[in-house]
Amino acid sequence: MEERRLGPVVGLGTWRTFGGDEPLAQAVVGAALAAGVRCVDSSPMYGGAERALAAALSGRREQATVLTKIWSSSPDEAGRQLQAQLAWFGRVDVEQIHNLVAWEEHLPWLERERAAGAIGRLGVTHYSTGAFGELARALRTGRFEAVQVPLNPLERESERELLPLAQELGVAVVVMRPFAGGALLRAGVEPDLRPLVEFGVETWSQALLKWALSDPRVDLVIPATARPERTAENAAAGSPPWFGREERDYVERLAR
Ligand SMILES: NC(=O)c1ccc[n+]([C@@H]2O[C@H](COP(=O)([O-])OP(=O)(O)OC[C@H]3O[C@@H](n4cnc5c(N)ncnc54)[C@H](OP(=O)(O)O)[C@@H]3O)[C@@H](O)[C@H]2O)c1
Repeated sequence: MEERRLGPVVGLGTWRTFGGDEPLAQAVVGAALAAGVRCVDSSPMYGGAERALAAALSGRREQATVLTKIWSSSPDEAGRQLQAQLAWFGRVDVEQIHNLVAWEEHLPWLERERAAGAIGRLGVTHYSTGAFGELARALRTGRFEAVQVPLNPLERESERELLPLAQELGVAVVVMRPFAGGALLRAGVEPDLRPLVEFGVETWSQALLKWALSDPRVDLVIPATARPERTAENAAAGSPPWFGREERDYVERLAR
């Protein structure tokens, strides 16, 4: 199971950050790579972000593990999305079926692409707790190697069935929305982080990222930022020592 793991590491999400803005993508992705970030998550849904990400990775593609998605109920359109990704990235390291869209229809041809080497691993994602039952059903097919779900102190439903199931099946867990889309980050407010300093935590965003990564079932957290300087702050949360029960409880209390 160990070789199937992606982490534990901090990656970079790309929803609502640089979109198709290539200079901004260059700055954000360049700063993230310089800070040691190696996993980047995107989607055809993210308004040109895949193209801008590919431009930012030009000449240094090997430094990154690219996770992206297919997002269409039409197999033809989904196939075109993969072809565009292969032109941009050369290969897709983790191809995820976004929001479970037509997942049963897409799986067979995606598996053929994986067997041919165009795709490294197959994953599936959903942001909504209402879809978690179907996400579990998809994982139980044994045909996915990664799952992407929300997890933060305010959104913990994935802990109930999906994280144990992923662990049982050896499926890598990618955590979206580690800051609840930013709702957990109150502008200008830093809670008392002194009990976490010995864990290398200096900021509240780091406390939240380390909270997620300290669950041994979690492989990768993908915070999104449009601010290059924040990538190093976020990346610094991706190293041990990890929180124990006491520190995780403390972060949960601070998040309330
Ligand atoms: N598959 C799905 O259904 C799905 C759904 C949602 C998300 N995702 C993936 O998960 C990624 C992350 O989720 P998300 O973008 O919704 O939310 P998030 O990462 O929880 O929060 C993003 C927000 O946090 C802020 N932020 C980031 N680092 C910060 C820092 N160090 N200090 C202060 N603020 C900081 C960003 O603002 P600034 O830009 O100003 O830094 C942004 O507003 C997405 O980008 C996407 O790749 C997938």
